Amino acid sequence: MARKYLIETYGCQMNVHDSERMAGLLEQAGFEATDTDDDADLVVINTCSVRERAEEKLYTRLGDIKGLASRTGRAPMVAVTGCVAQQEGGQILAKSKLVDIVLGTQRVKMLPVLVAQATTADEPLVDIATPYDEPTFPLGLTRREDPVKGYVTIIEGCNDYCTYCVVPYTRGHERMRARAEIVREVEELAASGRREIQLLGQIVNHYQAPDDPACDFAGLLAAVHDVPGIERIRFASPHPRHCSDRFIETLQRLPKVCRHLHLPVQSGSSRILKAMRRRHTREDYLALVDKLRAALPGIQLSTDMIVGFPGETVQDFDATLTLTEAVRFHSMFSFKYSPRPNTLAARRLADDVTEEEKTRRIMVLQARQKAIQAELHAAAMGRTVDVLVDTSSRRRPWELAGRTSGNTVVNFPGDAAWLGRFVPVTIERTGAFGVWGQPAGPAQERPC
Ligand code: SAH
Ligand code: SF4
Ligand code: F3S
Repeated sequence: MARKYLIETYGCQMNVHDSERMAGLLEQAGFEATDTDDDADLVVINTCSVRERAEEKLYTRLGDIKGLASRTGRAPMVAVTGCVAQQEGGQILAKSKLVDIVLGTQRVKMLPVLVAQATTADEPLVDIATPYDEPTFPLGLTRREDPVKGYVTIIEGCNDYCTYCVVPYTRGHERMRARAEIVREVEELAASGRREIQLLGQIVNHYQAPDDPACDFAGLLAAVHDVPGIERIRFASPHPRHCSDRFIETLQRLPKVCRHLHLPVQSGSSRILKAMRRRHTREDYLALVDKLRAALPGIQLSTDMIVGFPGETVQDFDATLTLTEAVRFHSMFSFKYSPRPNTLAARRLADDVTEEEKTRRIMVLQARQKAIQAELHAAAMGRTVDVLVDTSSRRRPWELAGRTSGNTVVNFPGDAAWLGRFVPVTIERTGAFGVWGQPAGPAQERPC
């Protein structure tokens, strides 16, 4: 009987995609997927370290597995991968006796080898070396669950060292993937029926092709835009300071590029942005938003925001609120500042905003943002929008959901066979986190 694996993923899309890669590798090695601990022979916990709360999830999960093992007398092999594995290495073994393998972010390809070795090894295995400079991965091996959308990594690592951020330490230096290889992977996704691709990189618009000096991010967008069958292109996350005129003109020119930008700002206060080493000011950001909206009418913006960064005063936080009001984001991920190992902020700056005050600020910000989202959605009432169907409810297959080009979530009744097709939907009800409507025409292979 085939051995079974379970992969649990925390963190960003890059981790989700690494899990898809690990699933492909394990299946090639003869494993079969399962979705419960009960019959898993191997549990892979693909971790995130971006905030302390994310890191804690690893230990909570290990506690669960320990509980299961003592109840049933059956302990699966446990591999810890991802950003906490890279950051903590062998120290994880001191915190849990359950772990058999610790695998770093640049060693994904080694997973099957380590699993084979761990079966007979006396000691747990740790491999967090960072020898790969080039993020190539065998084409076709990735096991992608989503039949509609495909992630494609174009850059790994980051050299920006924003003072709060652990990512440069867990993902390493910025490495760019070859243009030819990216285009081949996108072609493969199109051939397998995927309609949407999402290009991934810590600073995705910093792309510069190692195999083509003339190809920057705008050039790469144009190249993947030419792939027949791909109808929508998204990317995450662009950095405000790399949104050049050429980049904006490219978005204007290429209709398959979705009318949504996730543009992390982090704070509305230039003083705090400087302390974060974001390399953009409040004014730069607001000017960029104006420019984007003038060039691309109707473009929807989302962002990431941190509250309670060291030294953030009530006035600084007010600046975050006024920026939020001024931009009117369609959505926002907001976080309480959390000091992370190795980062400049954790080493040099006191975490001096109290937990209660961080909580107060995030609640005020989230309430304001929620009201803005609800207003923006309400303004779309009665409109007919073009939706790429990406979800059909498991228990009620006629309940469909999808997204507009601007990334609004649209729920509507239909047929599960419409998955991966475009449906015009007239909006009849709206809320803060999505809208509801009725189909206004037939499902189509291409945007309506
Ligand atoms: N590469 C992206 C962000 C990656 S991390 C960019 O440059 O914008 C995702 C988000 O987590 C960040 O945008 C930030 O808002 C949040 N974040 C990162 N480190 C954090 C920390 N120490 N405390 C709280 N939030 C943090
Ligand atoms: Fe982290 Fe800044 Fe790099 Fe984004 S740009 S991954 S926030 S260091
Ligand atoms: Fe988390 Fe690592 Fe992504 S820290 S956000 S999983 S790059």
